[in-house]
Amino acid sequence: MDPYLLGLRLGGRHVVVVGGGGVASRRVPALLDAGAAVLLVSPKVTASLEDLAAAGRIRWAERGYQPGDCAGAWLVCACTDDPAVNAAVAAAAEAQRTWCVRADDAGASAAWTPASGQAGDVRVGVLSVDPEHGDPRHSAAIRDAVVAGLRSGRLSARHGRGHHGGVAIIGGGPGDPGLITVRGRQLLAEADVVLADRLAPRSLLDELRDDVEIIDAGKIPYGRAMAQEHINAALIGHARAGRFVARLKGGDPFVFGRGAEEVLACLRAGVPVTVVPGVTSAVGVPASAWVPVTHRGVAQEFHVVSVHVPPGDERSTVNWELLGGSSGTLVLLMAVERIGAVAGELLRYGRSPDTPVSVIADGTLPTQRTINSTLEQVERLVAEEGVRPPAIVVVGDVVNVAMEITELMRDVTA
Ligand SMILES: C[S@@+](CC[C@H](N)C(=O)[O-])C[C@H]1O[C@@H](n2cnc3c(N)ncnc32)[C@H](O)[C@@H]1O
Repeated sequence: MDPYLLGLRLGGRHVVVVGGGGVASRRVPALLDAGAAVLLVSPKVTASLEDLAAAGRIRWAERGYQPGDCAGAWLVCACTDDPAVNAAVAAAAEAQRTWCVRADDAGASAAWTPASGQAGDVRVGVLSVDPEHGDPRHSAAIRDAVVAGLRSGRLSARHGRGHHGGVAIIGGGPGDPGLITVRGRQLLAEADVVLADRLAPRSLLDELRDDVEIIDAGKIPYGRAMAQEHINAALIGHARAGRFVARLKGGDPFVFGRGAEEVLACLRAGVPVTVVPGVTSAVGVPASAWVPVTHRGVAQEFHVVSVHVPPGDERSTVNWELLGGSSGTLVLLMAVERIGAVAGELLRYGRSPDTPVSVIADGTLPTQRTINSTLEQVERLVAEEGVRPPAIVVVGDVVNVAMEITELMRDVTA
């Protein structure tokens, strides 16, 4: 007979898990997510289960299974590596009319656990109708495909999703479409209107349905610019008209991204707004070129600086003297056009002329390129190589670590 699929609402309900190995390590966190009050019975448990017990998230009876352990349970999971113990647990559960999932023997199990996953407010469960002979990897693969489809928007039930206007300010990461968060991608897929920045992962826009309105809020430096007020007005106007607006930005919205200005504008207009953090280019782009912004024994601190105005400019609030005197890593954004002035200032305040510098342009994109230099040489090299924004400049000895990694990578992949 086919199984009857059911969603158990376990909040505060007593659930007994017998066995403390790999299966229990996977099941217990899911039970806790569902709010179950878990009693774990096992003489030994994995480190992750031990952590949960130490944190008071589960009760752990540190011993073997004993008759009576299932008393009062709404659900029992028998997942020891001993079939005789699992059979005894299942029999005790059956006798008291409690559903029991046996991990070792689907045919003898009263209930089966579906391969499950979540996409936003939808929970997906997939069960093979013949788990005894079917391959559980098949159910898991179907689950993965459905969840991925929902998250990307390729599978959609958009009109049933329950957004009534509102704005999501989404950090899209530095450019590679794979570096947006799961939540960011999902909200993007649900949007009626998308306002996308120039440095946002724009290839994601191709996946949106034809009826989604896409507004290019591209802000090309010092050129065509859609003023921030116009962007704010568009966010508010569309949201007030009942549309769900995704504001897709590059990197993280709150790192030199004016994300908080947009949040404030929405809230002042009474528009509900949410923010989804993103991988900032300040860290993600160096990583994509193997530069660790910190490294034990090399750099204990890193400073992220916007150089949209040069040192000495009256609008600059950066303390270049402090940065020149520090030994921490400097991560400079919007710096390539002003790299000569920056290098001069750092040298003036004490950094050594042979301090390593890495300039990484188009980070995480297929066109990514890296130029390694020194503080003394970097201006000349950037000009000779014609490096253009967007680029991240990293100053400090961590650049040497990247070179070592690159060398070793060459050997490994050779
Ligand atoms: C206005 S800031 C926005 C930063 C963004 N909010 C973030 O968290 O990454 C733009 C600067 O970020 C840096 N940037 C953004 N994406 C980049 C990429 N893919 N490669 C190199 N630098 C990048 C460049 O320095 C660029 O001039």
